[in-house]
Amino acid sequence: MQDLTPPREILDPIEIASIDEIRALQLGRLKWSLRHAYDNVPMYRARFDEAGVHPDDLQTLGDLAKFPFTYKNDLRDNYPFGLFAVPRSDIIRLHASSGTTGKPTVVGYTANDISNWADLVARSLRASGLRKGDMVHNAYGYGLFTGGLGAHYGIERLGATVVPMSGGQTEKQVGLITDFKPDGIMVTPSYMLNILEQYHKVGMDPRACSLKVGVFGAEPWTDAMRKEVEAAFDMHAVDIYGLSEIMGPGVANECVETKDGPVIWEDHFLPEIIDPATGEVLPDGEMGELVFTTLTKEGLPMIRYRTRDLTRLLPGTARSMRRMEKITGRSDDMIILRGVNVFPSQVEEQVLATGGLAPYYQIELYKSGRMDAMRVYVEANPDAADNLSKTASARMLTKRIKDIVGVSTEIIVGDPGEVERSQGKAKRVVDNRQKE
Ligand code: DLL
Repeated sequence: MQDLTPPREILDPIEIASIDEIRALQLGRLKWSLRHAYDNVPMYRARFDEAGVHPDDLQTLGDLAKFPFTYKNDLRDNYPFGLFAVPRSDIIRLHASSGTTGKPTVVGYTANDISNWADLVARSLRASGLRKGDMVHNAYGYGLFTGGLGAHYGIERLGATVVPMSGGQTEKQVGLITDFKPDGIMVTPSYMLNILEQYHKVGMDPRACSLKVGVFGAEPWTDAMRKEVEAAFDMHAVDIYGLSEIMGPGVANECVETKDGPVIWEDHFLPEIIDPATGEVLPDGEMGELVFTTLTKEGLPMIRYRTRDLTRLLPGTARSMRRMEKITGRSDDMIILRGVNVFPSQVEEQVLATGGLAPYYQIELYKSGRMDAMRVYVEANPDAADNLSKTASARMLTKRIKDIVGVSTEIIVGDPGEVERSQGKAKRVVDNRQKE
């Protein structure tokens, strides 16, 4: 793999500024953001008043802990535009996410918000090893999802050539990559595996393709998956993180030279880690729920937004700003099986570590009598180096999950193509517990 480390001169100065400089910038911007929310969004005014806090009470960054949290339900309760802090006519773009229950959450951006977003995605792409003049194949879905258009504007802002492919049409994806020879690809990691499968189907060598780096996000993926994809395509795989409520893709991005967890673009977003049960702020390094406060957002300021993503804050390495540990799961995705907490990513690690299996999996939860039980569907990989039988792979995976994750599972090893393929965000867990 090529060394894609960006030269320091092309970084934004704030990326490598001193911690004091970054904290001072954050404090000034945080005061503005609290005031903006309080003055323009009735819900924030009511919440702050109720909690007995006022934007003027914030003198230090630590004072933020006195302010109330914001939840996904607050967006639903104020559907569609009730949390916007500017007149609707100043909003130039809407996005929405459907979620599994209830009304969609709608987010809105002013012209400045869109411009900042493009800057931050361009910064994320530079961190990933891409440059002005490169070509980037964008397979994130276009439309209401923030992935496609968010990536698109950032690629253009970088000065790269964007191929606005969107998701789906896997055959065509491979055709265009072959013909156009892009340097980078932006796509969910689970959909990248479909693209990989298509290479094998048509008998092409993915390692011979032009791609130097993949910028993968929108769903959890493990370091084991990183190794799998890097080896398959002979390219770097870096992690891009984001969420619609805070902006979209590019809230944080990994640096290609370190690949040690996404760097949070702290000049625009202030992170906190809290104990999800008590709401107490935890020190850097401790595991908990990630909470974000936007520092520059005009259209939809978010004060202490509960992401439900579980991670920890780590000190800066390639940049001065803090990193977050690669996300292993959301509190919503956590399966509690006979008292043991299990995340799909833990199952993913074991599937990838077991011989004779392809990197596709889906977890089914069901009732066995009155107890919850878990079944994992995987696929045999006829091309695997270690040619294990299906029974041997199943036995090995059952044992690994029992020994390492700590739960008993039934493993079903199907033929290639039997596990549902993702077109965007993969559905890792099917919950049939109500059905049986
Ligand atoms: O998924 C934004 C995005 C698009 C990020 C493209 C990266 C690339 P939402 O649809 O609002 O926005 O979903 C946000 O997806 O709270 C996480 O649970 C999850 N997520 C996003 N990026 C990552 C990642 C987009 N790199 C939710 N690792 C977030 C793990 C991620 N989970």
